Amino acid sequence: MSARTVLAVAALCVSPLALAVEGNAEAARDKVAMCIGCHGIPGYQTVFPKTYKVPLIGGQYPEYIVAALQAYKSGDRKHPSMNGIAASLTEQDMADIAAYYSAQK
Ligand code: HEC
Repeated sequence: MSARTVLAVAALCVSPLALAVEGNAEAARDKVAMCIGCHGIPGYQTVFPKTYKVPLIGGQYPEYIVAALQAYKSGDRKHPSMNGIAASLTEQDMADIAAYYSAQK
């Protein structure tokens, strides 16, 4: 077995444990439709209710994306658009979305 294979196998074993719910990037395709308008454009800014820079989330670690969405949902992290959006997401939605975005470059 090459070192590359060993790493790939190790990654496969570890990643499901890191997230409570396993994400499915395919299942996220419908769910990310509402995110793309803001998060799909480098340097994009929303102008309501004031001007915000929208962070790019493609290529982020899935754990980071899930943690951010949970923080918006619980209100630990405050942003009017993201609080509203995260409130509508289930754990499974967040895991799927995280899998989708983390697979992007
Ligand atoms: C109306 C525009 C808008 C839409 C739609 C939107 N977002 Fe956001 N999002 C933002 C802005 C602005 C921020 C930065 C807010 C802040 O400073 O906390 C943000 C922050 C985030 C962050 C944290 C990023 C970081 O680097 O900390 C994540 C993760 C995220 N959004 C995911 C999503 C997902 C998933 C969707 C779709 C379900 C979505 N967003 C839809 C505007 C949007």
